[in-house]
Amino acid sequence: MWKFTSPRIIFGRDSVEHVELFRDKKCLIVTDDVIKNLGFVDAVSKYLGSHETVTIRAEEPGIDDAMELADEMRSLQPEVIVALGGGSVIDAAKAGRILMETDIEPEEITPFTDLSEYGFEGRSTLVAIPTTSGTGSEATWAIVLKNRKERRKAIMANEKAMPEIAVVDPVFVYSMPENLVIYSGFDALAHAIEAFLSSFSNPFSDALALSSARTILDNFHRSYQGDRDSREKMHISATMAGVAFSNSQVGTVHALAHATGASLNIPHGLAVAIFLLPVLEFYREQRVERLNELSLKVGCDVLREVEKLESMFEIWKSISGSEIKRHEGEVVKKAMEDSCVVTAPFVPEEKDLEEIIERVMERCMREEY
Ligand SMILES: [Fe+2]
Repeated sequence: MWKFTSPRIIFGRDSVEHVELFRDKKCLIVTDDVIKNLGFVDAVSKYLGSHETVTIRAEEPGIDDAMELADEMRSLQPEVIVALGGGSVIDAAKAGRILMETDIEPEEITPFTDLSEYGFEGRSTLVAIPTTSGTGSEATWAIVLKNRKERRKAIMANEKAMPEIAVVDPVFVYSMPENLVIYSGFDALAHAIEAFLSSFSNPFSDALALSSARTILDNFHRSYQGDRDSREKMHISATMAGVAFSNSQVGTVHALAHATGASLNIPHGLAVAIFLLPVLEFYREQRVERLNELSLKVGCDVLREVEKLESMFEIWKSISGSEIKRHEGEVVKKAMEDSCVVTAPFVPEEKDLEEIIERVMERCMREEY
């Protein structure tokens, strides 16, 4: 038996006006200082009535930040939580809302946890408004936060973590910095590709994965150049790819990206960008049949397109090969423990991950010398 889940998605220009629906409710905006300084909080709060705003750490919020946020939520008792920001802000708000109502240990939040046994009732409505076009967090069950103590990413997930409403308004991404356009674009593309390749893929996730992969490949470069129409398409596709992988899974690219991101302290989207092509090449060598099906259904050689994007944006120049080498053992260990490897179309062993990392190092070092 399969089930498809998605938040209610309000999208397109001016969709932020939708929050006016909550004008009579006690609202809490969760964001960070970067977003606040861009004036985005005002763009949302003008549609709300009584509300408070809480900012969290902008750089890689962790489980500790989500717990602090839960304390603030407990004292404010909001009827509506509006998470406004990139994936980290939305993930912190998802965790905070659960921790506000329960005393569960954060890392016990798994897809198999019955949160009602911990007293979770979902007393607040969660509205997620993404300000980047990548993580898809506004539409997923997943929560990824830093476990600072153990220098790793904590991956949590539960159906009840999913926001009730996602507001996908391009107004928040027109001024995204170039690097963020590149990294978030690779992240969204990887979600679409890995959702299709996942062993949990299904007809519903496939339809969204294929459509978003096609649109992302068609619009990535123009969006980078600042074309508004392309940026809007990328924004909507990132949410579609989010719904796709939330109903399927991601795979080895994300397992390695989570591990590398935590060990080397690099942004998630960059970590995804450096592993996407090497992992796909590895799958091709393992004769993963779904890879051919992907290219056939998207209507182009997907590997070739990823290769073009990778050289266009000179991804290798953004990362140090010697740094990866220094952390190789740690990255392999963390990636093997990551739940994402389980649903990969070819479940890797340690030696496979070492081989993939070796390729990444070679490419990076070629740039360094
Ligand atoms: Fe991702």
